[in-house]
Amino acid sequence: MCIRTPDRVLRNTPGSSHGLFSLSVQLSEYLALADAIAQDARALLAGLDPATRLDDAKGALNVVKDARLAALQSALRALPADDRRAAGSAFNLLKQGIDTAVVDFAARQRATDSGAGFDGTMPGRGVWRGSLHPVTLVIDEICEIFRELGFTIALGPEAETEWYNFGALNFPPDHPAMELHDTLYLGDRTLLRTHTSPVQVRTLQQYAPPVRVLAPGQVYRRDFFDATHAPAFMQLEGLAIDEGISFVDLKATLAEFARRFYGASRRVRFGPSYFPFVEPGAQMDVEVDLNDGKGLRWVEILGCGMVHPRVIEEAGLDSEKFTGWAFGMGPARIAMSRYDISDIRVLYDSDVRFLEQFAR
Ligand code: DAH
Repeated sequence: MCIRTPDRVLRNTPGSSHGLFSLSVQLSEYLALADAIAQDARALLAGLDPATRLDDAKGALNVVKDARLAALQSALRALPADDRRAAGSAFNLLKQGIDTAVVDFAARQRATDSGAGFDGTMPGRGVWRGSLHPVTLVIDEICEIFRELGFTIALGPEAETEWYNFGALNFPPDHPAMELHDTLYLGDRTLLRTHTSPVQVRTLQQYAPPVRVLAPGQVYRRDFFDATHAPAFMQLEGLAIDEGISFVDLKATLAEFARRFYGASRRVRFGPSYFPFVEPGAQMDVEVDLNDGKGLRWVEILGCGMVHPRVIEEAGLDSEKFTGWAFGMGPARIAMSRYDISDIRVLYDSDVRFLEQFAR
């Protein structure tokens, strides 16, 4: 017997596992074949040990049915047009019947599952909980330390005006310091802020001293994206303003922060630096081991200084009465030194293999 299909002829070898096929198909023959497949499928599943894995059972079933179902489907077209509807619904019933037989087999499996093979001492599978990004971890930790030292969080806009970003911070027009702060202008004297320092002025305009705030946030610069630079990155600004605040407060607070963050035995040092909005300006270095075999070395972790009297005046306060200090740092740099990361770009890649190492 053979069934003609438009593209091929399937022959039945006596005793072959397919058990099909006849020439010029009759409806009765078609239905008989569908019935035979259903019976074979049921017989196969009934004969299986209920301990058989469901995947293995389905695999065995596929061997019995797949090719035969495909042939049956093609044979639909070889039927006289009048018979196709009845044959089609028989075909669909057959497929549903096989699906039901598989569901029944799975139920039989569950019913006879005595628990044998279950090992209650096996460790459970861990649940994937997700994790915080290393830069977020560093920011959270720094914020927590400064919270203990009496600071609260302040936020400012990322689309900032030229005045807050530069003018109020004592950048003279066209000062070379602004070259380091090239950014995207949004028109109408607004730009993507190049640092979090504008939050200093916004805070002082809004809250009367004593002020102690920490301002984390995203900043933007026209920088290449290379191993040590990114055109968009997080900064963390700190500001303390009150009557009678001196450089001693700055040194003591920042050194205490470094002790808590890096460990009590870690040495810190301050050196002179320049930023238009502080006078005097300084940088703080911490001795860190980057685990590259070269031992401890000095790494600059932040810029700081006494807030320039002009900035205090621009914010609307009396600079004879109020003094204070500020600092700014890049938590990505700090994360890199803390976790031995040599290329800043991995912090932006969203590669789960890297990030999952920070899951706690
Ligand atoms: N805003 C500076 C920058 O982005 C960092 C900075 C330095 C902030 C000294 C400060 C500071 O508050 O006192 O390079």
